[in-house]
Amino acid sequence: MAEVAPGSEELVLAFLAEAADDFVSGEAISDKLGLSRAAVWKHVNALRGQGYGIEALPARGYRLVSIPDRLGALEIGPLLHTHDLGQVLHCEDGLPSTNDLAKELAEAGAVHGEVVIAESQTAGRGRRGRTWVSPSGRNLYMSVVLRPHLAPQRAPELTLVASLAACDACRQAGVEAGIKWPNDVLVEGRKVAGILTELSAESDEVHWVVLGIGVNLNAEDADFPDELRDVASSLAIERGQPVPRALFTAALLSTLEQWLDLHAADGFGPIRDAWRARSCTLGREVRVDVEGREITGRAEDIDDTGALLVRTGSGLVRVVAGDVRLLRRVDPPGA
Ligand code: BTN
Repeated sequence: MAEVAPGSEELVLAFLAEAADDFVSGEAISDKLGLSRAAVWKHVNALRGQGYGIEALPARGYRLVSIPDRLGALEIGPLLHTHDLGQVLHCEDGLPSTNDLAKELAEAGAVHGEVVIAESQTAGRGRRGRTWVSPSGRNLYMSVVLRPHLAPQRAPELTLVASLAACDACRQAGVEAGIKWPNDVLVEGRKVAGILTELSAESDEVHWVVLGIGVNLNAEDADFPDELRDVASSLAIERGQPVPRALFTAALLSTLEQWLDLHAADGFGPIRDAWRARSCTLGREVRVDVEGREITGRAEDIDDTGALLVRTGSGLVRVVAGDVRLLRRVDPPGA
């Protein structure tokens, strides 16, 4: 199991990553990290051997030009700008499900913000008992352990927080993402990300929450089974170029942490407003499958618990869980 333990090599990488597109002199790196110039050179070469593209110019120093397409602690760690999330990272080649390992770690005392990532999942799970298609090396499969100070009945708010972060990270990657209630991230009507939240709680206390986030980053159409091709997509398909996965992961963790901090400080109000602003559900005619019963009506709002309010022929129905199908738009776009 790979955990972030910043050795000199990682510190050199972090220094180069921090400088983004700029050159950093060998002298600056050796002064800052207390290493000899020869040691800096050795670490740069070791990083190159692992697939990092590092340019070296005699008068200017070093510049990080590319990182390998791997979701390892060495790739993600130096890109992280978080205080808690991902400070402990467990990166695996393959797992049955990142949520399962995250739950085990949580039970064993994992700290707030510990993250599990896998290159592939053999039993990736979605909501409502579905399978999450998890081909190797293409996407992001990540679970985040949280220890929130929250009443258990408010835990579902965290799922909406995660959907905001996933939506924002997709937008930062250049696609027009929106959220379908409760937490599916869609682009052009096709799903690119989903969230599976699991928790352990007593009547008045949450022990832990695991936010399982799956984002289809570089999957191709052929990666999806036939029955999903019309309803699932990836950021690469939508934007026409591959996504640097480590950068996306670090950006998603930063965004998630910012939304979690806001939620902890100011409660659900600002989350609800932000969710509304990204929703592709509100104002639409929807059909909701609630435990085998179908409700059709206009999705009017979410309430202060995150439940969906649907205006039907027989009045306003409050939906706390269910599958939403978007039918037609009722309000003009942007209304
Ligand atoms: C859904 O939309 O149905 C939720 C999908 C959640 C998938 C992610 S991938 C990482 C984590 N591990 C899992 O087994 N599931 C979640």
